[in-house]
Amino acid sequence: MTDAAFLRCIQPDCAATYELSAEDPFCRSCGGLLDVAYDWNRLPVPGSMHYFATRWATRQEPLDHSGVWRFRELLPFAVTEELVTIGEGQTLLQSPDVRALGLPLEPGRLHLQYEGLNPSGSFKDNGMAAAFTMARKLGRQRVACASTGNTSASMALYAALTRIADDRPMQAVVFIGEGKIAFGKLAQALDHGARTVQIAGDFDACMRRVREASQRLGLYIMNSINPFRLEGQKTIMYRVLEGLGWDVPDWIVVPGGNLGNTSAFGKAFMELRELGLVERPPRLAVVNAVGANTFCELVDRRGLRWDGGAWNRAIVDACYTEGERRAGEKEIALPHGRTVASAIDITRPVNLPKALRSLEALDGVVCEVTDEEILEEKARIGRCGLGCEPASAASLAGLRQLLARGVIGREQRVVCILTGHALKDPDVTVGYHTGKRTTDEQSKPASRPAVLANGPVQVADDLESICRAIESLPWK
Ligand code: F0G
Repeated sequence: MTDAAFLRCIQPDCAATYELSAEDPFCRSCGGLLDVAYDWNRLPVPGSMHYFATRWATRQEPLDHSGVWRFRELLPFAVTEELVTIGEGQTLLQSPDVRALGLPLEPGRLHLQYEGLNPSGSFKDNGMAAAFTMARKLGRQRVACASTGNTSASMALYAALTRIADDRPMQAVVFIGEGKIAFGKLAQALDHGARTVQIAGDFDACMRRVREASQRLGLYIMNSINPFRLEGQKTIMYRVLEGLGWDVPDWIVVPGGNLGNTSAFGKAFMELRELGLVERPPRLAVVNAVGANTFCELVDRRGLRWDGGAWNRAIVDACYTEGERRAGEKEIALPHGRTVASAIDITRPVNLPKALRSLEALDGVVCEVTDEEILEEKARIGRCGLGCEPASAASLAGLRQLLARGVIGREQRVVCILTGHALKDPDVTVGYHTGKRTTDEQSKPASRPAVLANGPVQVADDLESICRAIESLPWK
């Protein structure tokens, strides 16, 4: 390998390397996942993270303004002229009042990395900036993804704005499961001109099909199985550090679905440590929804570990086979999904091995939270002025649980990642506030009334009644 950036199999006993242009996201030699790897000795790396602060002085340059590319020295797989940006990553680390959230953390110890501020409304834009850079560099004209909403909205937006050689936009094909996409997000994909293929199946089925169809038709995959997506998502961690004055927090808490963020965050800190840019990484907590808890099941109950790369595939195979049998039994009872947090309703996370590696590198833990916990937390976050989707609120629900279990200490500094905007799954939010709440596995009624329910009040069309109703409104 002569280039300073290349692809490398993550399995240490294989570590086969490939050109960046390799078509397949899997190792041809052993089937392992591929990383974007760098020969840092041949690349200009800043001596300290403070270097990146200088980019603010030149932020009229789109690349210096981008929350991804202003860190370009840490994801140096393309030259400056090739980089694609639509203004992603303009986030500010938020510091909500822990008392307002009712969290037993010392004041000032909680931070929320709100990725809903991205152009398409979720963290996906960080990854798309990088993956579209690679697609254009490779001269690819058609891109595809499986999605429950955010990936498709982001991909469609970037495709609409990324011009290829003859100045046409890229063509984007979205795979969605029947009834398994959030409408607001589908609306974005449709408006931005992506074509949608709806198949009878869930996200995992779409993921399988998009891979098969891409191989056959030469579509460029934009899911997080694409290693360049993860390069872009590393920058979420750089911005967290930036928000903390380059101090490393004690914990990062993130929802886990396909485990792309889990993988990217681990890689970010493994590299920063290798480069001497941080001394110690934070610990990582990955939060599953109870209804789609594969990662938790594998790690907590079946003892799966990265084990220096020797992770036990038999444990995974057995878990998936059992899961499939159970899903077959449940299919009729659960037509709408396994959790209200649609973005993490994923049972076969494609990035599993990379996520296991992250857990080992960041001394990570995994936990699972119920839909009721997610919905209460989402309403609390909303009261703090941040609108996030159910999957994002899983991170706060996970934090509450880990504090209660004593895994996270009240004096520790914690950053929860709010992955997407409130406009995903609004039906769930309205259902929560109006008492038409669905909970775990959607078919069971909620066991307790919603704590922050805030539904509309019915009043006759009469000024007297309206004023009386307003004066007597209860405020929680
Ligand atoms: N949070 C949000 C808002 C998401 O949209 C997703 C994934 C996740 C968390 C899970 O992240 O895969 O890095 O563990 N959304 C996919 C989609 C499924 O289609 O938009 P992960």
